[in-house]
Order: sequence, then structure tokens, then C-alpha cells
Amino acid sequence: MKTLMLVSGGDAPGINTAFYHYARAAARYGGRVYGARGGFAGLLDGAVSLLTPEAAAPWAGVGGSLLESSREPVLSKQDAEQQLKARLAEWDINGLVLFGGDGSLRHLPPLLEAWEIPCIGIPTTIDNDVAGTEQTLGFDSACNYAYHVIDGMRATAHALPGRIFTLETLGGDTGYLALAVADGAGADAVLLPEYEYDENWLAERLREAATTRGHALLVMSEGVKTKEAVVANIPQWTGIRVRDTRLGHAQRGGAPSHRDRALAAEMARIAYAALRDGTRAGVVVVRGGRAALHEGSLAGAPQSAPDRVLYDFINGLNTDGRSGD
Ligand code: F6P
Repeated sequence: MKTLMLVSGGDAPGINTAFYHYARAAARYGGRVYGARGGFAGLLDGAVSLLTPEAAAPWAGVGGSLLESSREPVLSKQDAEQQLKARLAEWDINGLVLFGGDGSLRHLPPLLEAWEIPCIGIPTTIDNDVAGTEQTLGFDSACNYAYHVIDGMRATAHALPGRIFTLETLGGDTGYLALAVADGAGADAVLLPEYEYDENWLAERLREAATTRGHALLVMSEGVKTKEAVVANIPQWTGIRVRDTRLGHAQRGGAPSHRDRALAAEMARIAYAALRDGTRAGVVVVRGGRAALHEGSLAGAPQSAPDRVLYDFINGLNTDGRSGD
């Protein structure tokens, strides 16, 4: 069997680990694995090369993606089907493994199935916002990266008390990542794009933490439209100095955690087995904490909002949105 891996959209820690494990699974069964450099745009340009376990091994513990990605929607172009089929025929490819986020995995596997190109998707994004899976590859590493930074912030916060610390995570226009980080780090408050906040309870929450414990920590997702204003206004609202940190893209490019490496290995083996078994379309999802093959696409999977109960709890709110502590 000859299969091809490609990445569409943002990279995520664990993608390279999955490349390595996929190439190993293929080698075990005498299969050949190819990689398209630069997603579908790269594939259509002919940027395809053999990917052996030996070539993938040095990258297995590194963030980013050895096979570069692309956000270009080339498959929506008129002659995309013919071009894609011609490229795959040139290399005698029998199936694709597609690494991508919500947008890529909702729309592309059904399209490829319609074009009779077997495709297995692997949900990869630090945002953890793919409907139909409990966890995406890269999310755990991105949380761990944030904890590493927060631990450093806490050390200096303890050494020099009397300040409020704000931390901005990535997450696009969703708050799953920021909420998980705020929960795991025990933040005093969290702001997400999905939920409204009130400056009165926010200021009170931060002031109280800073005066009783010496410092306060507010985690915000990058999608919160007023985040710069919040940082600028905190001293005025609370009378306490503020120190702001943005994780930026370093959060996305960090090394894969143990959880993501184990998940990558499991997902890669499942993807290979699915193509070998003749599956035409599927996505490797996490259900009940384990990776499993979901046959068909995730197109109809309902998207749930970040856990509102947890959001209220972290912010010390009653369920009616008022301050509860
Ligand atoms: O891949 C998801 C993500 O990292 C988001 O968290 C972030 O908003 C976005 O991608 C950044 O995209 P880009 O690398 O194109 O700036």
C-alpha cells in the first residue's frame, strides 16, 4: 500500500510524532509512505517525497510540522478534483492521511470521499475545538507550555508581591484552551470569547486575590475582543499594578507532551490500519479518553461551548453570572 500524509491549517505539537509512528506502522507491513510539503497546495504543485521512519525519527519529539502546511483552499477550485487525482496517480497513492483542524476535517474528508480518494483524518490543533472528538492532538502540549510560563510568573509574583498578572493564550476565536489552562493553573479569573464578563466582578475578584494572597492571575483567550482594554484598565479598576504576558505562537510550536506523543502513536496506528482495512473515509477521534476510528465524516457533529459551569466556578460566579464568593 502507498499512502500520503499532508497537513492542512495550523500545525500542532505531536504531528511530527504521528508522522514517525505512521511511517513505522507502514514499514512493518511493507507499505510506502509519502509526504506532501505544504498541504494540498504543495501536493498539487508536486511537492511530494518519500517519508521513511529513519527520516521522520529526528523530528518525532519536535513541535511544528516537518511537512509544511497551508491554509490555501485549493480544493474548492474548479479543476481541483482532476488535478488531485492526476497527482495521486503519478505516485500511485492509494490513500491519504489528513492532519487538520475543525475546518479541514469537517469539509475535506466528505469531498475526498465523493472524489473516491480514501482519506483518514487526524484532528490536530492546540485550540481543542474540533466537534466530535474529546481531544485534539497538540492541545495537551499547549496547556503544558502555558503551565511552564505560569510557574515562572508565580515565582516572581511571590518574590515581589502586589501585582496582578494577565496571561493571553492562543485559541483563535474559541476559549477551550484558555479555560483548560486557567483551570489547571488555578487562575483567579478567566475570560473567553464565548461568554460576557462584567468589569465589576472581575475587578473585585482580582483585587481580592491580590490583597489576600499577594498576587492574582487572570487568563484570557486571544479571541476576547476587549483584552487590551482589560489589561489597560486593571490598575484603574483595582488600584493595583498589572503585568501582561502573551504566549503567542511559541505556545503552538512547543515540544509534544507525553500525552500528545502517546496519542499521536495511537492515532497514527489506527489511521494506517483503517486505510489497510479499506476504509474509504474516517476520522481518528478521542472518545472516553481513547483514540478510536469514527467512520465517515465529522460534518454533522454538534459543537458544544466551553464548560460554562467551570467558567463560573473559576470566576467565583453563581450560576446567574453574579459574584458568588
Ligand atoms: O492553529 C490554531 C491557531 O494556533 C490559533 O490558536 C491561532 O489563533 C491561529 O492558529 C493563528 O494562526 P496563524 O498561524 O495563521 O497566525
